[in-house]
Amino acid sequence: MHPADAVAIDGRRRLRPAGIAFGGDYNPEQWPEQVWAEDVALMKEAAVTMVTAGIFSWAKAEPRPGEYDFGWFDRVMDKLATAGVAVCLATMTASPPPWLSRLHPEILPETADGRRMWPGGRQHYCPSSGVYREHATRLVERLATRYAGHPALEMWHIGNEYGCHTPMCWCDESAADFRRWLSERYGDVEALNDAWSTAFWAQHYESFDEVLPPRLAPTFPNPAQQLDFARFSDDALLRCYLAEKEVLRRITPDVPVTTNFIGVHKHVDAFRWAAEQDVVSVDVYQDPHDPDTHVSAGFVFDVTRSARAGQPWMLMEQAPSAVNWRHRNGPKPPGRMRLWSWQAVAQGADAVLYFQWRQSRGGAEKFHSAMLPHGGTGTRTFREVRDLGRELASVPQIAGTRSTAEVALVLDWNSWWALELDSHPSTALNQTDIALAHYRPLFEAGVTCDVVPPDRDLSAYRLVVVPNLYLLKEQDAERLTGFVRGGGHLLVSFFSGIVDDCDRVHLGGYPAPLREVLGLRVEEFWPPAEKETVDVRHPDGTVSRADLWSEVVVLEGAQTVADFGSGPLAGRPAITRHSFGEGSAWYVATRLAPEAMRALTEEVCRTAGVGPVLAGLPRSVQATVREGDGRRFVFLLNHGQEPAEIQLPEPMADALAPGTASTDRITLPAAGVAVLSKP
Ligand code: GLA
Repeated sequence: MHPADAVAIDGRRRLRPAGIAFGGDYNPEQWPEQVWAEDVALMKEAAVTMVTAGIFSWAKAEPRPGEYDFGWFDRVMDKLATAGVAVCLATMTASPPPWLSRLHPEILPETADGRRMWPGGRQHYCPSSGVYREHATRLVERLATRYAGHPALEMWHIGNEYGCHTPMCWCDESAADFRRWLSERYGDVEALNDAWSTAFWAQHYESFDEVLPPRLAPTFPNPAQQLDFARFSDDALLRCYLAEKEVLRRITPDVPVTTNFIGVHKHVDAFRWAAEQDVVSVDVYQDPHDPDTHVSAGFVFDVTRSARAGQPWMLMEQAPSAVNWRHRNGPKPPGRMRLWSWQAVAQGADAVLYFQWRQSRGGAEKFHSAMLPHGGTGTRTFREVRDLGRELASVPQIAGTRSTAEVALVLDWNSWWALELDSHPSTALNQTDIALAHYRPLFEAGVTCDVVPPDRDLSAYRLVVVPNLYLLKEQDAERLTGFVRGGGHLLVSFFSGIVDDCDRVHLGGYPAPLREVLGLRVEEFWPPAEKETVDVRHPDGTVSRADLWSEVVVLEGAQTVADFGSGPLAGRPAITRHSFGEGSAWYVATRLAPEAMRALTEEVCRTAGVGPVLAGLPRSVQATVREGDGRRFVFLLNHGQEPAEIQLPEPMADALAPGTASTDRITLPAAGVAVLSKP
């Protein structure tokens, strides 16, 4: 298919030209109708091809229960269609109108200590509320019926950032729903008693009717109950999404659906949700004050790319410049918004959208940047947005290409929920921190990395990295063991493989299900005191610092790669390696300093035969490849503050600098981007 052909991947005809979609959230209800014509004209100027509209339109579209006013929205849709701007149409259910909570205060969510969350902000609904879902799906039915055949409709945007403000609710309706969910999961209450270890502290239940969500209790609520509540809460949100999706599928079976993830969000299991979406989309808000913000954004992008096995995804929201919700909200310095947008594309995005089109005049987000700032078109932000829109439009051939990885990093929401529960050897363990500690050296080495759940097929990978997989099912441990036996390489960090699906310890010596493959046993956990560090002695004679965790490792076939050089565990293994089957399994029993983590990652990659996309790049330069249908693009992004000299293995042409000759030497300015392909 030629990229200029305006047919989407799923075969539907679409309004916008093929290529990377560009645009943002459009909230026309915040402005008088006269402004809309200017909006559309300026969208054309900025090469906007898609907007996501209607996200917060419920109160205006249904001003009174069952009374709909879509006339204004028809005019918005028509204007956009006439201008050739496609619409990712929101289902309008993200923020219920005041009349709904006045008539039905029972839809309002409650906290664990029984406080009600009132309207006045947004997302003030209990995810289990039948009344909320009934009103939401009724609205969606009307919306889908009305716009099914509208030429502007390209896809559906269901809800908005599920779980952003109200990921969990402890009200009575949630409690009843939780009991229903538990009785489906366990069948009879004795199975629940077993799973929750209720023999402990006299918690045995005689019937499901006695079970409550983990509300504020005098001390640690049952951990398995908390874990199930996290699962249930994720599921309750997913059921809200699915209820709307069911309506949309019935009325518009050919229109793809998505919902936007909030980065990698603890309360929403992206892998489970992705299976229910046609395209995955995500919101990422880099922090310009954080020099490593591109690394954590890179992690989110890779999770998103991996969620539907490499399928191109959408950057649904990013800030054109500053946000309004951190303590200090710095703007994106010149060129960084372009760089970070290209980073999304380099990591597989086929859409670059923002929150939001026109900066609000009032309301809580009036100081959040927008594509069209308060200052209008004569602003740096608008110019940078417009230039990027035009630049993206000049390379439509990138859309649809994909990246492949030889390395997978394992992330499991169940384990994340369980890891961060209270009453552990340390409460300082944080799943995303430790995942990032493993991800960063791969990212900086230019090694492409998928992020996968533990039950994903691993056969395509050479190296699998497992950061803190505290909860591990036997069958997933067997999969990891089989992966190494068959020639794969595995890097596992501390406090992994400790409990089963019900947060019960795998007996037989920690980490029982991984003992064989790792060739060791952990006898005692030994977290150092806060701020305390321990030395780690490496084979080359260097000593690095570690902190957060240590443990007594007893070798059972593995060899010591580095040992502790100070503290109570001095002389005991800190890093081990086990040759097992055709592969090898490495274990890290502490949190290494970044330099040591980098050296270890390099060594493990070398052993696994995994290399970077381009060798010899400065650490600040990111390189990725997207390919498909005979097209191949190498993306180079300079995240540093200095220009970078880059030697290419062969002469290549930069698609962003048409007319310039192919070359094998590039000087990439700070924040510079090149999209290279062979002439
Ligand atoms: C989220 C929401 C948007 C907006 C932005 C502001 O991503 O989805 O509606 O509030 O945050 O950063």
